[in-house]
Amino acid sequence: MQGVARNFFTLAVIYSIIGMTLGLSMAMSHDHAQMPTHAHIMVLGWVMSSVFAFFYHLVPAARNSRLAVVHFWLSAISSVVMMATLYMLYGGNLSVEPVLGTASLVFFAATLLFAWIALSALWRPAGAGVANGVTANR
Ligand code: HEM
Ligand code: HEM
Repeated sequence: MQGVARNFFTLAVIYSIIGMTLGLSMAMSHDHAQMPTHAHIMVLGWVMSSVFAFFYHLVPAARNSRLAVVHFWLSAISSVVMMATLYMLYGGNLSVEPVLGTASLVFFAATLLFAWIALSALWRPAGAGVANGVTANR
């Protein structure tokens, strides 16, 4: 695994440790107030970043696109801001809502960018795929 695939998987593993630590702390304290934060760290952080990592690993034409680097940084920065502000919001600090909303919209925009990168790599004519090394990894 290399490039953005490795970056996404590194991010995913970090999220899995932070998310499970929060889950364990909720379970041990019997205070589940942070459930939405835990749920998003686990599924948006760990699961989605892993899916992105394996997709980029399997499809070099997507990984080699310069837009993939933009996708990584938009996702990474917006998701870190989302998780931090979710934690603060469910901790009672309602004033962070505009920042959380903005970060969510940026994460959504990054996912739209991923849709473009992924679908254009997968539906590229066969000849272009060979030039980009797609068939070598099939
Ligand atoms: C050390 C491991 C984990 C612990 C101790 C833990 C603990 C918890 C706790 C205490 C809740 C709140 C339940 C409630 O109030 O109804 C919860 C909810 C949740 N957890 Fe975990 N969790 C763990 C791992 C995971 C993993 C690996 C995932 C996903 C990949 C995950 C996804 C979720 C989701 C999506 C919810 C929300 C469920 C709902 O909407 O009802 N958790 N977890
Ligand atoms: C733009 C990004 C997103 C926004 C703004 C968003 C917003 C929300 C909101 C408002 C809730 C309800 C929370 C509550 O009832 O307290 C929720 C729950 C949930 N979302 Fe998301 N979400 C986003 C992305 C995602 C993604 C990408 C996933 C999965 C990969 C996901 C999985 C879940 C799950 C499992 C729950 C139920 C857990 C709970 O009740 O806390 N969300 N989300």
